[in-house]
Amino acid sequence: MKEIIIYFSRAGENYNVGDTEIGNTEVIANYIKELTGADMFKIEPINEYPRNYDECIRVTKEELDRGLRPGVKRYLDNFDEYDTIYLGYPIWWGKVPLCVDNFIAHYNFSGKTVKPFCTHEGNGLGTTVYELRKMMHGADIKDGFEVEGSKVKNAKALVEEWLKK
Ligand SMILES: Cc1cc2nc3c(=O)[nH]c(=O)nc-3n(C[C@H](O)[C@H](O)[C@H](O)COP(=O)(O)O)c2cc1C
Repeated sequence: MKEIIIYFSRAGENYNVGDTEIGNTEVIANYIKELTGADMFKIEPINEYPRNYDECIRVTKEELDRGLRPGVKRYLDNFDEYDTIYLGYPIWWGKVPLCVDNFIAHYNFSGKTVKPFCTHEGNGLGTTVYELRKMMHGADIKDGFEVEGSKVKNAKALVEEWLKK
């Protein structure tokens, strides 16, 4: 069984955590990597999001309002080889960020097992697992993991607990 962690995360100024060098979701992705040895792939938008928080809020709101689908720098060539995908994202505006939606739309998830994980500042997983189920026809989407971005540094044991379920 082959596993991969696919995630998006934005380093920079953020709510409750100051200015991060490694984004909160990436911290969780790194724990999963340590605990499972799975491969890893980072989703990178063609136009990087601003490190400045207010600027990022403005840009992402505009993308949502205009119904844009921000492009990603590259796709994963050997996607078909993987059975299990750990899919990680920050909650943006209560949703999965649009560049992640774009990445997902590129693939057929039928027959894959998907384990979602997110970081947020109060939202929890919200409706994102429901959204993923609508987008990934035929995938077995497991219960997701969520943690506040400001608590990721102490979350390794929680991640381990989730992985054991
Ligand atoms: C543009 C933007 C929108 C956000 N919207 C939400 C939200 O709707 N609900 C929430 O709980 N947190 C929201 N947050 C907080 C992030 O989900 C949280 O800081 C997360 O840990 C960031 O992960 P990252 O460092 O991996 O990008 C938002 C942050 C940004 C930058």
